[in-house]
Amino acid sequence: MFGFGRRICPGMNIAERSLFILTARILWGTQMGHQKDAQGNEIPIPSYDYTAGFNTQPKPFNFELKPRTEKRWETIKDAYVASRKADTLRL
Ligand code: HEM
Repeated sequence: MFGFGRRICPGMNIAERSLFILTARILWGTQMGHQKDAQGNEIPIPSYDYTAGFNTQPKPFNFELKPRTEKRWETIKDAYVASRKADTLRL
């Protein structure tokens, strides 16, 4: 994923640690799961449905995201509002 040899990605440690922290923060605040259809069956998440091209990424898919607790949800919302206020680049 990060290349090989002398040109290996110098940012891989930052990237891996940032992804780890981001994932941990999302899981701290929310519970993730499969969305359910009208019959209550879990809607499968496609494993190999990616966009084409050089910078490929998963295509959008349905899933369920629920706050772990009301208190954590308030913390997330407050952090969002604060980050928007502090965002000097915001149009
Ligand atoms: C998940 C995130 C990232 C992935 C998957 C990734 C992947 C790669 C890959 C595949 C290469 C080419 C390696 C090769 O030629 O063998 C590369 C090069 C590079 N990456 Fe990353 N990278 C990521 C994040 C970052 C970050 C966060 C930084 C900087 C903070 C960064 C800085 C660079 C630089 C400067 C090069 C050029 C290295 C050179 O040509 O000597 N990358 N990256």
